[in-house]
Amino acid sequence: MNYEFLKTDFLVIGSGVAGLRAAIALAEVGDVVVLAKSALSEGSTEYAQGGVAVALSDDDEIVFHEQDTLRAGDKLCDREAVRILVTEGPERIEELILWGASFDTENGKLWFSLEGAHSRRRVIHSHGDSTGAEIERVLLARAKPHENITFLDHAFTIDLLVHEGLCCGAFVLVGRRPFRLLCIEAKATVLATGGAGQVYSVTTNPEVATGDGPAIAFRAGAELVDMEFVQFHPTALYKRGVPTFLLSEAMRGEGGVLRNAKGERFMLKAHPQAELAPRDIVSRAIITEIHRSGSDEIYLDLRHFKPGFVQERFPRIYETCLKFGLRADEDLLPVRPAAHYMMGGVRSDNNGSSSLPGLFACGEVACTGVHGANRLASNSLLEGIVFGKRAGDSAKGLLGHSVTVPKSLIRALVHRLTMHSDISLGEIARAKRQMQEMMWENVGIIRDLAGLEHARAVLSELAYLAEMTLPDPAALEARNIFYTAAAIRFAAAERTESRGAHFRSDFPSADDQHWLIHRTISAERGLDSLLA
Ligand code: FAD
Ligand code: SIN
Repeated sequence: MNYEFLKTDFLVIGSGVAGLRAAIALAEVGDVVVLAKSALSEGSTEYAQGGVAVALSDDDEIVFHEQDTLRAGDKLCDREAVRILVTEGPERIEELILWGASFDTENGKLWFSLEGAHSRRRVIHSHGDSTGAEIERVLLARAKPHENITFLDHAFTIDLLVHEGLCCGAFVLVGRRPFRLLCIEAKATVLATGGAGQVYSVTTNPEVATGDGPAIAFRAGAELVDMEFVQFHPTALYKRGVPTFLLSEAMRGEGGVLRNAKGERFMLKAHPQAELAPRDIVSRAIITEIHRSGSDEIYLDLRHFKPGFVQERFPRIYETCLKFGLRADEDLLPVRPAAHYMMGGVRSDNNGSSSLPGLFACGEVACTGVHGANRLASNSLLEGIVFGKRAGDSAKGLLGHSVTVPKSLIRALVHRLTMHSDISLGEIARAKRQMQEMMWENVGIIRDLAGLEHARAVLSELAYLAEMTLPDPAALEARNIFYTAAAIRFAAAERTESRGAHFRSDFPSADDQHWLIHRTISAERGLDSLLA
Protein backbone atom coordinates (compact mmCIF):
# COMPACT_ATOMS: atom_id res chain seq x y z
CA MET A 1 0.00 0.00 0.00
CA ASN A 2 1.43 3.38 -0.97
CA TYR A 3 1.23 6.39 1.27
CA GLU A 4 1.32 10.15 0.87
CA PHE A 5 3.26 12.48 3.13
CA LEU A 6 2.22 15.85 4.56
CA LYS A 7 4.21 18.17 6.80
CA THR A 8 2.56 20.81 8.96
CA ASP A 9 3.32 22.80 12.09
CA PHE A 10 0.25 21.63 13.99
CA LEU A 11 -2.16 18.76 13.61
CA VAL A 12 -5.61 18.92 15.23
CA ILE A 13 -7.57 15.67 15.25
CA GLY A 14 -11.26 16.56 15.56
CA SER A 15 -13.44 19.40 14.30
CA GLY A 16 -15.93 19.79 17.15
CA VAL A 17 -15.97 22.74 19.54
CA ALA A 18 -12.66 21.81 21.17
CA GLY A 19 -10.68 21.01 18.03
CA LEU A 20 -11.91 24.10 16.17
CA ARG A 21 -11.17 26.42 19.08
CA ALA A 22 -7.67 24.95 19.38
CA ALA A 23 -7.11 25.30 15.63
CA ILE A 24 -8.17 28.97 15.67
CA ALA A 25 -5.60 29.64 18.41
CA LEU A 26 -2.84 27.70 16.63
CA ALA A 27 -3.45 29.39 13.27
CA GLU A 28 -2.26 32.67 14.82
CA VAL A 29 1.33 31.39 14.59
CA GLY A 30 1.58 28.50 12.14
CA ASP A 31 0.04 26.08 9.68
CA VAL A 32 -2.67 23.82 10.99
CA VAL A 33 -4.23 20.68 9.55
CA VAL A 34 -7.62 19.76 11.05
CA LEU A 35 -8.93 16.21 10.61
CA ALA A 36 -12.47 14.88 10.93
CA LYS A 37 -13.26 11.24 10.38
CA SER A 38 -16.64 12.00 8.80
CA ALA A 39 -18.16 15.31 7.63
CA LEU A 40 -16.59 18.33 9.35
CA SER A 41 -19.64 19.15 11.46
CA GLU A 42 -20.46 15.56 12.41
CA GLY A 43 -19.77 15.11 16.11
CA SER A 44 -21.45 15.58 19.47
CA THR A 45 -21.07 19.36 19.27
CA GLU A 46 -23.50 19.51 16.35
CA TYR A 47 -26.19 17.71 18.36
CA ALA A 48 -25.80 19.54 21.68
CA GLN A 49 -29.21 20.76 22.73
CA GLY A 50 -29.64 22.24 26.22
CA GLY A 51 -26.97 24.90 26.04
CA VAL A 52 -23.89 26.35 27.66
CA ALA A 53 -23.63 26.97 31.38
CA VAL A 54 -22.04 30.34 32.04
CA ALA A 55 -22.26 32.72 34.98
CA LEU A 56 -23.42 35.81 33.10
CA SER A 57 -26.89 36.47 34.49
CA ASP A 58 -27.60 39.31 36.90
CA ASP A 59 -28.41 36.98 39.81
CA ASP A 60 -25.49 34.62 39.21
CA GLU A 61 -21.86 34.71 40.28
CA ILE A 62 -18.81 32.79 39.18
CA VAL A 63 -18.48 31.35 42.65
CA PHE A 64 -22.00 29.83 42.44
CA HIS A 65 -21.15 28.15 39.15
CA GLU A 66 -17.92 26.91 40.73
CA GLN A 67 -19.76 25.50 43.74
CA ASP A 68 -22.35 23.70 41.61
CA THR A 69 -19.64 22.18 39.40
CA LEU A 70 -17.71 20.97 42.45
CA ARG A 71 -20.83 19.54 44.07
CA ALA A 72 -21.79 17.61 40.91
CA GLY A 73 -18.22 16.28 40.65
CA ASP A 74 -18.62 14.52 44.01
CA LYS A 75 -15.26 15.53 45.57
CA LEU A 76 -13.16 14.47 42.59
CA CYS A 77 -12.99 17.74 40.65
CA ASP A 78 -9.65 19.39 40.08
CA ARG A 79 -10.31 22.71 41.78
CA GLU A 80 -7.93 24.69 39.62
CA ALA A 81 -9.50 23.32 36.42
CA VAL A 82 -12.96 24.25 37.71
CA ARG A 83 -11.77 27.74 38.58
CA ILE A 84 -10.41 28.17 35.05
CA LEU A 85 -13.63 26.87 33.47
CA VAL A 86 -15.95 29.19 35.35
CA THR A 87 -13.74 32.30 35.22
CA GLU A 88 -12.61 32.06 31.58
CA GLY A 89 -16.02 30.80 30.40
CA PRO A 90 -17.76 34.20 30.24
CA GLU A 91 -14.89 35.67 28.20
CA ARG A 92 -15.01 32.79 25.69
CA ILE A 93 -18.78 33.14 25.30
CA GLU A 94 -18.53 36.88 24.74
CA GLU A 95 -15.88 36.17 22.11
CA LEU A 96 -18.24 33.70 20.39
CA ILE A 97 -20.97 36.34 20.35
CA LEU A 98 -18.50 38.78 18.83
CA TRP A 99 -17.76 36.17 16.14
CA GLY A 100 -21.45 35.97 15.29
CA ALA A 101 -23.00 33.40 17.63
CA SER A 102 -26.65 34.06 18.25
CA PHE A 103 -27.97 32.99 21.65
CA ASP A 104 -31.65 33.27 22.53
CA THR A 105 -32.74 36.41 24.34
CA GLU A 106 -35.63 37.46 26.53
CA ASN A 107 -36.51 41.15 26.87
CA GLY A 108 -33.28 42.05 25.08
CA LYS A 109 -31.04 40.09 27.46
CA LEU A 110 -29.56 36.58 27.24
CA TRP A 111 -32.21 34.01 28.20
CA PHE A 112 -30.94 31.74 30.95
CA SER A 113 -32.49 28.30 31.51
CA LEU A 114 -32.35 25.94 34.43
CA GLU A 115 -30.90 22.43 34.29
CA GLY A 116 -30.30 19.69 36.84
CA ALA A 117 -28.03 20.41 39.84
CA HIS A 118 -27.66 24.12 38.95
CA SER A 119 -28.57 26.50 41.77
CA ARG A 120 -29.29 29.30 39.28
CA ARG A 121 -30.76 29.76 35.82
CA ARG A 122 -27.47 29.90 33.90
CA VAL A 123 -27.76 27.90 30.68
CA ILE A 124 -27.77 29.95 27.48
CA HIS A 125 -29.11 28.35 24.34
CA SER A 126 -29.53 28.93 20.66
CA HIS A 127 -32.57 28.48 18.42
CA GLY A 128 -34.16 26.84 21.46
CA ASP A 129 -32.43 23.47 21.38
CA SER A 130 -29.75 23.79 18.67
CA THR A 131 -26.99 25.33 20.74
CA GLY A 132 -24.20 23.02 19.59
CA ALA A 133 -25.04 23.49 15.92
CA GLU A 134 -24.83 27.27 16.35
CA ILE A 135 -21.42 27.05 18.05
CA GLU A 136 -20.14 24.64 15.38
CA ARG A 137 -21.41 26.98 12.65
CA VAL A 138 -19.67 30.01 14.11
CA LEU A 139 -16.36 28.25 14.75
CA LEU A 140 -16.32 26.70 11.27
CA ALA A 141 -17.16 30.09 9.73
CA ARG A 142 -14.20 31.57 11.62
CA ALA A 143 -11.75 28.75 10.85
CA LYS A 144 -12.59 27.85 7.25
CA PRO A 145 -11.48 31.08 5.55
CA HIS A 146 -8.23 31.16 7.57
CA GLU A 147 -5.34 30.76 5.19
CA ASN A 148 -3.31 28.85 7.79
CA ILE A 149 -5.93 26.15 8.32
CA THR A 150 -6.43 23.15 6.04
CA PHE A 151 -9.39 20.86 6.66
CA LEU A 152 -9.43 17.19 5.76
CA ASP A 153 -12.79 15.49 6.21
CA HIS A 154 -13.27 11.72 6.00
CA ALA A 155 -9.74 11.46 7.36
CA PHE A 156 -9.62 8.69 9.96
CA THR A 157 -6.67 8.80 12.33
CA ILE A 158 -5.43 5.25 12.74
CA ASP A 159 -2.60 5.87 15.17
CA LEU A 160 -0.22 8.54 16.35
CA LEU A 161 3.35 8.65 15.13
CA VAL A 162 5.70 8.35 18.08
CA HIS A 163 9.46 8.54 17.72
CA GLU A 164 11.91 8.53 20.61
CA GLY A 165 9.14 9.24 23.10
CA LEU A 166 7.78 12.21 21.16
CA CYS A 167 4.47 12.44 19.34
CA CYS A 168 5.26 13.72 15.86
CA GLY A 169 1.99 13.44 13.97
CA ALA A 170 -0.44 10.78 12.87
CA PHE A 171 -1.12 8.06 10.41
CA VAL A 172 -4.42 8.60 8.62
CA LEU A 173 -6.81 6.76 6.30
CA VAL A 174 -8.29 9.28 3.86
CA GLY A 175 -11.32 9.41 1.58
CA ARG A 176 -13.75 6.64 0.78
CA ARG A 177 -13.04 3.16 -0.60
CA PRO A 178 -10.42 2.73 -1.98
CA PHE A 179 -8.83 4.57 0.93
CA ARG A 180 -5.54 6.42 0.74
CA LEU A 181 -2.90 6.39 3.46
CA LEU A 182 -1.53 9.69 4.65
CA CYS A 183 1.35 10.24 7.02
CA ILE A 184 1.13 13.67 8.66
CA GLU A 185 4.23 14.99 10.39
CA ALA A 186 3.57 17.74 12.95
CA LYS A 187 5.47 19.56 15.69
CA ALA A 188 2.47 19.32 18.00
CA THR A 189 -0.65 17.19 17.79
CA VAL A 190 -3.91 18.12 19.49
CA LEU A 191 -6.32 15.27 20.13
CA ALA A 192 -9.94 16.49 20.15
CA THR A 193 -11.80 13.36 19.11
CA GLY A 194 -14.79 13.75 21.44
CA GLY A 195 -16.63 11.07 23.35
CA ALA A 196 -17.15 7.34 23.57
CA GLY A 197 -20.91 6.84 23.81
CA GLN A 198 -20.81 4.22 21.05
CA VAL A 199 -18.96 1.91 23.40
CA TYR A 200 -22.52 1.26 24.64
CA SER A 201 -25.51 -0.10 22.75
CA VAL A 202 -27.77 2.66 24.07
CA THR A 203 -26.36 6.15 23.63
CA THR A 204 -27.26 9.71 22.79
CA ASN A 205 -23.96 10.08 20.93
CA PRO A 206 -23.58 10.20 17.15
CA GLU A 207 -22.01 7.26 15.34
CA VAL A 208 -18.58 8.90 15.20
CA ALA A 209 -18.25 8.81 19.01
CA THR A 210 -16.48 5.46 19.18
CA GLY A 211 -13.88 6.36 21.80
CA ASP A 212 -11.07 6.58 19.23
CA GLY A 213 -9.15 9.18 21.24
CA PRO A 214 -8.48 7.21 24.44
CA ALA A 215 -7.64 4.13 22.36
CA ILE A 216 -5.25 6.00 20.06
CA ALA A 217 -3.60 7.78 23.00
CA PHE A 218 -3.22 4.58 25.02
CA ARG A 219 -1.59 2.75 22.11
CA ALA A 220 0.81 5.69 21.69
CA GLY A 221 1.85 5.52 25.34
CA ALA A 222 -0.18 8.37 26.88
CA GLU A 223 -1.94 7.95 30.21
CA LEU A 224 -5.69 7.70 30.66
CA VAL A 225 -7.43 8.68 33.88
CA ASP A 226 -10.87 8.43 35.56
CA MET A 227 -12.13 6.05 32.86
CA GLU A 228 -14.75 4.53 35.18
CA PHE A 229 -16.75 7.77 35.12
CA VAL A 230 -19.26 7.57 32.27
CA GLN A 231 -22.33 9.79 32.47
CA PHE A 232 -25.73 8.30 31.60
CA HIS A 233 -28.32 10.89 30.60
CA PRO A 234 -31.72 10.07 32.12
CA THR A 235 -33.97 10.99 29.23
CA ALA A 236 -33.39 9.57 25.78
CA LEU A 237 -36.45 8.81 23.66
CA TYR A 238 -37.21 5.10 23.93
CA LYS A 239 -39.49 3.75 21.25
CA ARG A 240 -39.20 0.53 19.29
CA GLY A 241 -37.70 1.10 15.85
CA VAL A 242 -36.73 4.69 16.67
CA PRO A 243 -33.07 5.69 17.05
CA THR A 244 -32.06 6.77 20.55
CA PHE A 245 -32.56 10.53 20.65
CA LEU A 246 -31.87 12.94 23.49
CA LEU A 247 -34.74 14.78 25.16
CA SER A 248 -32.88 17.68 26.68
CA GLU A 249 -32.58 18.15 30.41
CA ALA A 250 -33.76 21.68 29.74
CA MET A 251 -37.23 20.17 29.24
CA ARG A 252 -37.18 19.12 32.89
CA GLY A 253 -35.63 22.52 33.69
CA GLU A 254 -38.74 24.14 32.21
CA GLY A 255 -40.98 21.97 34.39
CA GLY A 256 -41.22 18.60 32.60
CA VAL A 257 -41.77 15.70 35.00
CA LEU A 258 -41.10 11.96 34.96
CA ARG A 259 -43.90 9.46 35.47
CA ASN A 260 -44.07 5.69 35.79
CA ALA A 261 -46.59 3.41 34.08
CA LYS A 262 -49.19 4.34 36.71
CA GLY A 263 -48.63 8.04 36.09
CA GLU A 264 -46.86 8.56 39.44
CA ARG A 265 -44.01 11.08 39.86
CA PHE A 266 -41.50 8.66 41.39
CA MET A 267 -38.68 11.26 41.49
CA LEU A 268 -40.46 13.13 44.29
CA LYS A 269 -39.54 10.31 46.66
CA ALA A 270 -36.09 9.70 45.16
CA HIS A 271 -34.41 13.09 45.76
CA PRO A 272 -35.23 16.53 47.19
CA GLN A 273 -34.53 18.11 43.77
CA ALA A 274 -36.83 15.52 42.14
CA GLU A 275 -36.44 15.60 38.31
CA LEU A 276 -33.65 18.18 38.62
CA ALA A 277 -31.39 16.02 40.77
CA PRO A 278 -27.93 15.26 39.31
CA ARG A 279 -28.07 13.01 36.24
CA ASP A 280 -26.60 9.93 37.89
CA ILE A 281 -29.31 10.04 40.55
CA VAL A 282 -32.15 10.47 38.06
CA SER A 283 -30.76 7.70 35.82
CA ARG A 284 -30.44 5.26 38.71
CA ALA A 285 -33.86 6.19 40.02
CA ILE A 286 -35.34 5.33 36.61
CA ILE A 287 -33.60 1.94 36.56
CA THR A 288 -34.68 1.27 40.15
CA GLU A 289 -38.25 2.21 39.29
CA ILE A 290 -38.21 -0.13 36.28
CA HIS A 291 -36.98 -2.99 38.50
CA ARG A 292 -39.43 -2.16 41.28
CA SER A 293 -42.49 -1.89 39.07
CA GLY A 294 -41.59 -4.64 36.61
CA SER A 295 -42.52 -2.27 33.80
CA ASP A 296 -40.10 -0.40 31.58
CA GLU A 297 -42.65 2.33 30.91
CA ILE A 298 -41.15 5.62 32.08
CA TYR A 299 -42.39 8.85 30.58
CA LEU A 300 -41.41 12.48 30.29
CA ASP A 301 -44.57 14.51 30.68
CA LEU A 302 -44.75 17.99 29.13
CA ARG A 303 -48.52 18.04 28.66
CA HIS A 304 -49.06 20.72 31.29
CA PHE A 305 -47.05 23.37 29.42
CA LYS A 306 -48.99 26.24 27.91
CA PRO A 307 -50.08 25.63 24.31
CA GLY A 308 -47.32 26.17 21.76
CA PHE A 309 -44.54 26.39 24.35
CA VAL A 310 -42.84 23.04 23.61
CA GLN A 311 -42.76 23.69 19.89
CA GLU A 312 -41.41 27.20 20.35
CA ARG A 313 -38.84 26.43 23.05
CA PHE A 314 -37.63 23.04 21.71
CA PRO A 315 -38.29 23.16 17.95
CA ARG A 316 -35.72 20.53 16.93
CA ILE A 317 -36.88 18.02 19.53
CA TYR A 318 -40.52 18.74 18.74
CA GLU A 319 -39.96 18.07 15.03
CA THR A 320 -37.98 14.90 15.70
CA CYS A 321 -40.68 13.51 17.99
CA LEU A 322 -43.29 14.34 15.37
CA LYS A 323 -41.28 12.42 12.79
CA PHE A 324 -41.60 9.38 15.02
CA GLY A 325 -45.32 9.79 15.62
CA LEU A 326 -45.22 11.63 18.96
CA ARG A 327 -46.61 15.09 19.74
CA ALA A 328 -44.33 16.31 22.51
CA ASP A 329 -47.02 18.65 23.89
CA GLU A 330 -49.84 16.11 23.87
CA ASP A 331 -48.29 12.66 24.27
CA LEU A 332 -46.36 11.15 27.13
CA LEU A 333 -42.80 10.68 25.81
CA PRO A 334 -41.30 7.25 26.56
CA VAL A 335 -37.76 7.61 27.91
CA ARG A 336 -34.88 5.67 29.35
CA PRO A 337 -31.28 6.54 30.27
CA ALA A 338 -28.51 6.35 27.68
CA ALA A 339 -24.71 6.61 27.71
CA HIS A 340 -24.01 10.28 27.17
CA TYR A 341 -20.64 11.65 28.23
CA MET A 342 -17.16 10.50 29.23
CA MET A 343 -15.75 12.30 32.27
CA GLY A 344 -12.50 10.33 32.07
CA GLY A 345 -10.10 10.35 29.16
CA VAL A 346 -6.59 11.29 28.18
CA ARG A 347 -4.88 12.71 31.26
CA SER A 348 -4.10 16.33 30.55
CA ASP A 349 -3.09 19.36 32.52
CA ASN A 350 -4.94 22.64 32.38
CA ASN A 351 -2.98 23.62 29.26
CA GLY A 352 -3.86 20.45 27.41
CA SER A 353 -0.48 18.70 27.80
CA SER A 354 -0.83 14.94 27.98
CA SER A 355 1.76 12.64 29.51
CA LEU A 356 3.20 12.08 26.00
CA PRO A 357 5.43 14.96 24.88
CA GLY A 358 4.11 16.60 21.70
CA LEU A 359 0.55 15.39 22.34
CA PHE A 360 -2.17 17.70 23.67
CA ALA A 361 -5.80 16.84 24.39
CA CYS A 362 -8.93 18.95 24.83
CA GLY A 363 -12.69 18.62 24.90
CA GLU A 364 -14.49 15.43 25.82
CA VAL A 365 -11.53 13.18 25.02
CA ALA A 366 -9.40 14.93 27.63
CA CYS A 367 -9.55 14.56 31.37
CA THR A 368 -8.32 17.59 33.28
CA GLY A 369 -10.47 16.57 36.24
CA VAL A 370 -12.77 19.53 35.64
CA HIS A 371 -15.88 17.34 35.89
CA GLY A 372 -14.67 15.05 38.65
CA ALA A 373 -16.91 12.00 39.02
CA ASN A 374 -19.92 13.58 37.31
CA ARG A 375 -20.32 16.50 34.91
CA LEU A 376 -22.68 19.34 35.66
CA ALA A 377 -25.21 19.80 32.85
CA SER A 378 -24.10 22.07 30.01
CA ASN A 379 -20.52 22.37 31.24
CA SER A 380 -19.11 20.45 28.29
CA LEU A 381 -19.47 22.95 25.48
CA LEU A 382 -17.94 25.48 27.84
CA GLU A 383 -15.06 23.11 28.56
CA GLY A 384 -14.53 22.72 24.80
CA ILE A 385 -14.08 26.41 24.13
CA VAL A 386 -12.14 27.20 27.31
CA PHE A 387 -9.71 24.27 27.25
CA GLY A 388 -9.61 24.09 23.44
CA LYS A 389 -8.17 27.61 23.38
CA ARG A 390 -5.79 26.79 26.22
CA ALA A 391 -4.52 23.63 24.48
CA GLY A 392 -3.99 25.59 21.26
CA ASP A 393 -2.19 28.43 23.05
CA SER A 394 0.06 26.01 24.81
CA ALA A 395 0.83 23.84 21.73
CA LYS A 396 1.99 27.03 19.98
CA GLY A 397 5.08 26.79 22.15
CA LEU A 398 6.33 23.88 20.01
CA LEU A 399 6.44 25.95 16.80
CA GLY A 400 10.21 26.26 16.98
CA HIS A 401 10.75 22.51 17.41
CA SER A 402 11.80 20.27 14.59
CA VAL A 403 10.54 16.71 14.25
CA THR A 404 11.37 14.01 11.77
CA VAL A 405 9.38 10.86 11.33
CA PRO A 406 11.82 8.14 10.28
CA LYS A 407 10.92 6.27 7.09
CA SER A 408 11.39 2.97 8.94
CA LEU A 409 8.57 3.88 11.35
CA ILE A 410 6.21 4.65 8.47
CA ARG A 411 7.18 1.49 6.62
CA ALA A 412 6.46 -0.59 9.73
CA LEU A 413 3.00 1.00 10.08
CA VAL A 414 2.20 0.47 6.40
CA HIS A 415 3.39 -3.12 6.63
CA ARG A 416 1.11 -3.76 9.63
CA LEU A 417 -1.89 -2.45 7.73
CA THR A 418 -1.24 -4.58 4.67
CA MET A 419 -0.67 -7.79 6.58
CA HIS A 420 -3.18 -10.43 5.65
CA SER A 421 -6.26 -10.36 7.87
CA ASP A 422 -8.86 -13.09 7.54
CA ILE A 423 -11.54 -11.34 9.61
CA SER A 424 -14.47 -10.15 7.53
CA LEU A 425 -16.23 -6.82 8.04
CA GLY A 426 -19.39 -8.79 8.88
CA GLU A 427 -17.61 -10.55 11.74
CA ILE A 428 -16.22 -7.25 12.95
CA ALA A 429 -19.69 -5.67 12.95
CA ARG A 430 -21.00 -8.59 15.05
CA ALA A 431 -18.11 -8.27 17.51
CA LYS A 432 -18.77 -4.53 17.81
CA ARG A 433 -22.45 -5.12 18.59
CA GLN A 434 -21.51 -7.80 21.12
CA MET A 435 -19.15 -5.40 22.91
CA GLN A 436 -21.71 -2.59 22.94
CA GLU A 437 -24.46 -4.78 24.40
CA MET A 438 -22.13 -6.38 26.89
CA MET A 439 -20.90 -2.98 28.09
CA TRP A 440 -24.48 -1.72 28.45
CA GLU A 441 -25.51 -4.76 30.49
CA ASN A 442 -22.40 -5.11 32.64
CA VAL A 443 -20.49 -1.84 32.78
CA GLY A 444 -23.45 0.52 32.61
CA ILE A 445 -25.50 2.49 35.11
CA ILE A 446 -25.37 -0.11 37.89
CA ARG A 447 -22.25 -2.27 38.11
CA ASP A 448 -21.09 -5.17 40.27
CA LEU A 449 -18.18 -7.57 40.43
CA ALA A 450 -19.98 -10.43 38.67
CA GLY A 451 -20.92 -8.22 35.72
CA LEU A 452 -17.47 -6.67 35.53
CA GLU A 453 -15.88 -10.14 35.55
CA HIS A 454 -18.24 -11.26 32.79
CA ALA A 455 -17.23 -8.19 30.81
CA ARG A 456 -13.58 -9.07 31.28
CA ALA A 457 -14.20 -12.59 29.97
CA VAL A 458 -16.07 -11.34 26.89
CA LEU A 459 -13.37 -8.76 26.11
CA SER A 460 -10.66 -11.39 26.54
CA GLU A 461 -12.39 -13.53 23.93
CA LEU A 462 -12.49 -10.55 21.60
CA ALA A 463 -8.85 -9.59 22.21
CA TYR A 464 -8.04 -10.40 18.58
CA LEU A 465 -9.65 -7.05 17.76
CA ALA A 466 -6.66 -5.29 19.30
CA GLU A 467 -4.36 -6.83 16.70
CA MET A 468 -6.67 -6.25 13.78
CA THR A 469 -4.96 -4.70 10.80
CA LEU A 470 -7.75 -4.17 8.30
CA PRO A 471 -7.37 -0.70 6.74
CA ASP A 472 -11.07 0.15 6.97
CA PRO A 473 -12.71 2.70 9.33
CA ALA A 474 -15.36 0.19 10.47
CA ALA A 475 -12.67 -2.24 11.57
CA LEU A 476 -10.51 0.47 13.13
CA GLU A 477 -13.50 1.79 15.09
CA ALA A 478 -14.22 -1.68 16.46
CA ARG A 479 -10.57 -1.89 17.53
CA ASN A 480 -10.90 1.47 19.30
CA ILE A 481 -14.15 0.50 21.00
CA PHE A 482 -12.36 -2.61 22.24
CA TYR A 483 -9.50 -0.60 23.82
CA THR A 484 -11.75 2.05 25.35
CA ALA A 485 -14.21 -0.55 26.67
CA ALA A 486 -11.31 -2.46 28.23
CA ALA A 487 -10.08 0.71 29.95
CA ILE A 488 -13.56 1.63 31.27
CA ARG A 489 -14.16 -1.90 32.55
CA PHE A 490 -10.76 -2.09 34.22
CA ALA A 491 -11.21 1.24 36.01
CA ALA A 492 -14.78 0.34 37.06
CA ALA A 493 -13.59 -2.95 38.53
CA GLU A 494 -10.79 -1.25 40.44
CA ARG A 495 -12.97 1.40 42.11
CA THR A 496 -14.65 -0.51 44.91
CA GLU A 497 -17.00 2.27 45.98
CA SER A 498 -19.79 4.35 44.47
CA ARG A 499 -19.18 7.97 43.53
CA GLY A 500 -20.76 10.30 41.01
CA ALA A 501 -21.64 8.44 37.85
CA HIS A 502 -19.85 5.26 38.95
CA PHE A 503 -22.25 3.08 40.95
CA ARG A 504 -21.36 -0.36 42.31
CA SER A 505 -24.30 -2.23 43.81
CA ASP A 506 -21.76 -4.36 45.71
CA PHE A 507 -20.11 -1.19 47.14
CA PRO A 508 -23.07 1.22 47.25
CA SER A 509 -21.45 3.91 49.43
CA ALA A 510 -18.72 6.43 48.81
CA ASP A 511 -15.45 5.55 50.54
CA ASP A 512 -13.66 8.87 51.09
CA GLN A 513 -10.94 7.24 53.10
CA HIS A 514 -9.58 5.24 50.16
CA TRP A 515 -11.06 6.64 46.99
CA LEU A 516 -10.56 10.39 46.86
CA ILE A 517 -8.03 9.60 44.17
CA HIS A 518 -7.82 9.46 40.40
CA ARG A 519 -6.81 6.13 38.88
CA THR A 520 -4.40 6.47 36.01
CA ILE A 521 -4.11 3.78 33.37
CA SER A 522 -0.64 3.75 32.05
CA ALA A 523 0.11 2.34 28.64
CA GLU A 524 3.30 0.84 30.03
CA ARG A 525 1.18 -1.75 31.81
CA GLY A 526 -0.03 -2.85 28.41
CA LEU A 527 -3.39 -4.09 27.22
CA ASP A 528 -2.90 -7.48 28.89
CA SER A 529 -2.98 -5.89 32.34
CA LEU A 530 -6.43 -4.42 31.57
CA LEU A 531 -7.79 -7.89 30.90
CA ALA A 532 -5.85 -9.84 33.56
P1 FAD B 1 -17.02 16.37 19.13
O1 FAD B 1 -17.88 17.54 18.91
O2 FAD B 1 -17.71 15.06 19.34
O3 FAD B 1 -16.08 16.24 17.86
C1 FAD B 1 -15.23 15.12 17.70
C2 FAD B 1 -14.46 15.26 16.41
O4 FAD B 1 -13.43 14.28 16.39
C3 FAD B 1 -15.29 15.04 15.16
O5 FAD B 1 -14.88 15.98 14.20
C4 FAD B 1 -14.87 13.64 14.70
O6 FAD B 1 -14.95 13.43 13.30
C5 FAD B 1 -13.42 13.64 15.13
N1 FAD B 1 -12.83 12.30 15.28
C6 FAD B 1 -13.16 11.35 16.19
N2 FAD B 1 -12.38 10.26 16.01
C7 FAD B 1 -11.55 10.54 14.98
C8 FAD B 1 -10.53 9.82 14.31
N3 FAD B 1 -10.20 8.56 14.63
N4 FAD B 1 -9.88 10.42 13.28
C9 FAD B 1 -10.21 11.68 12.89
N5 FAD B 1 -11.17 12.41 13.49
C10 FAD B 1 -11.83 11.85 14.52
N6 FAD B 1 -22.87 19.51 26.31
C11 FAD B 1 -23.21 20.73 26.77
O7 FAD B 1 -22.40 21.41 27.40
N7 FAD B 1 -24.46 21.23 26.53
C12 FAD B 1 -25.40 20.55 25.84
O8 FAD B 1 -26.50 21.03 25.62
C13 FAD B 1 -25.08 19.25 25.37
N8 FAD B 1 -25.99 18.51 24.71
C14 FAD B 1 -25.61 17.31 24.17
C15 FAD B 1 -26.50 16.59 23.38
C16 FAD B 1 -26.12 15.42 22.77
C17 FAD B 1 -27.09 14.66 21.92
C18 FAD B 1 -24.79 14.94 22.95
C19 FAD B 1 -24.35 13.66 22.29
C20 FAD B 1 -23.91 15.62 23.75
C21 FAD B 1 -24.29 16.81 24.35
N9 FAD B 1 -23.40 17.55 25.14
C22 FAD B 1 -23.77 18.77 25.61
C23 FAD B 1 -22.01 17.14 25.25
C24 FAD B 1 -21.16 17.94 24.26
O9 FAD B 1 -21.91 18.14 23.08
C25 FAD B 1 -19.87 17.22 23.90
O10 FAD B 1 -19.21 16.78 25.05
C26 FAD B 1 -18.95 18.18 23.14
O11 FAD B 1 -19.62 18.75 22.04
C27 FAD B 1 -17.71 17.44 22.67
O12 FAD B 1 -16.98 18.30 21.83
P2 FAD B 1 -15.61 17.81 21.24
O13 FAD B 1 -15.08 18.92 20.42
O14 FAD B 1 -14.76 17.29 22.34
O15 FAD B 1 -16.00 16.54 20.33
C1 SIN C 1 -29.12 18.23 27.48
O1 SIN C 1 -29.56 19.10 26.74
O2 SIN C 1 -29.80 17.62 28.31
C2 SIN C 1 -27.68 17.88 27.39
C3 SIN C 1 -26.91 18.83 28.17
C4 SIN C 1 -25.55 18.30 28.52
O3 SIN C 1 -25.17 17.21 28.14
O4 SIN C 1 -24.85 19.01 29.23
